[in-house]
Amino acid sequence: MLEDSPLLVVQDLCVSFQTRRGLVKAVDHLSFHLKKGEVLGVVGESGSGKSVSMMSVLGLIADANAKIEGSIVFRGEELIGLSGRRLRALRGSDIAMIFQDPMTALTPVYTIGWQIIEQIQAHQPQPRAKARERARALLAEVGMPNPDAQLDRFPHQLSGGMRQRAVIAMALALRPALLIADEPTTALDVTVQAQILDVIDHMRKTLGSAVILITHDMGVVAEMADRVMVMYAGRGVELAGASDLFEDPWHPYTWALLGSIPPLEGARPRRLLSIPGSPPSLIDLPRGCAFAPRCPSRFDACERRPELSSGDVHQAACFLDQAGRMRNKAIASENGVHPA
Ligand SMILES: Nc1ncnc2c1ncn2[C@@H]1O[C@H](COP(=O)(O)OP(=O)(O)OP(=O)(O)O)[C@@H](O)[C@H]1O
Ligand code: SF4
Ligand SMILES: [Mg+2]
Repeated sequence: MLEDSPLLVVQDLCVSFQTRRGLVKAVDHLSFHLKKGEVLGVVGESGSGKSVSMMSVLGLIADANAKIEGSIVFRGEELIGLSGRRLRALRGSDIAMIFQDPMTALTPVYTIGWQIIEQIQAHQPQPRAKARERARALLAEVGMPNPDAQLDRFPHQLSGGMRQRAVIAMALALRPALLIADEPTTALDVTVQAQILDVIDHMRKTLGSAVILITHDMGVVAEMADRVMVMYAGRGVELAGASDLFEDPWHPYTWALLGSIPPLEGARPRRLLSIPGSPPSLIDLPRGCAFAPRCPSRFDACERRPELSSGDVHQAACFLDQAGRMRNKAIASENGVHPA
């Protein structure tokens, strides 16, 4: 396979859950790709399908009422329909994950050292003493204070930031080609957050790992991401290079999303603020553009469903052309829903 061919290609991914209230369309024809070493920031309001879509990549949707359709190709291998065994093997080697709550990845009854050593030995069989030394080195690499002593501690004896470091050390042990980080720093204070982001960045630089970084924090996106995917109601609504997105967002939802935080310089809240109105029910999505009920720029064409085009270029699932965007953005800016 060519070096510059995409590491991950997600095409028309649909994830739905059959519930007593009806069919919840959590992810609706989502397509994106990721290159080696690239960081893709994924943003959107709560419930927009960020976690469900990325859990699908990992084969971690365990709900028996879930239906997953479309295509997820990782290094040329189709992941949808893959056996549980093969998926577990991939998760144990090429794809690593970090979640908001590090306890998701840690087992409470084993020491941190035991868990990292298991990971190292599963990946590269070697004598236990050597694996322990490697585990110590990994903890030091992720900035764990006093790594020797931490090896013999249980997860509940560590702070949240230290646990997240331990999880990242386990991920580093795999030398993954793809790291999926779902709100990895949300539960941590700002100083620890910055340290954890540094470690993820270090991982990307030293190992060339690609990273999917789900976050509510646009400051984190601006700092870390090469490209950004904005999600709304289970759909991708805008895909762009990070600087393009901040300089010239195309989708009215992105204007609102960016307008809901102050400029990136100076004080900013850690989470996005809310946008007027609420997201649509995923059981009864609007026929056309899902953002239409909240969109001040909607017009007749929006009765149809806008799609994202494919490719690397800046794109938005919106019927506004460039002139329409400029006109409506100026109005939105006057109304205070777009950064000045
Ligand atoms: N097992 C399930 N059964 C039914 N609905 C589900 C299930 N899992 C997730 N959902 C729904 O799918 C939608 C997308 O959820 P998801 O967790 O991906 O959102 P998110 O964008 O990660 O939000 P947050 O920012 O709060 O983490 C939500 O409406 C959620 O309620
Ligand atoms: S397609 Fe129409 S309703 Fe949807 S975001 Fe664009 S202008 Fe607004
Ligand atoms: Mg989530």
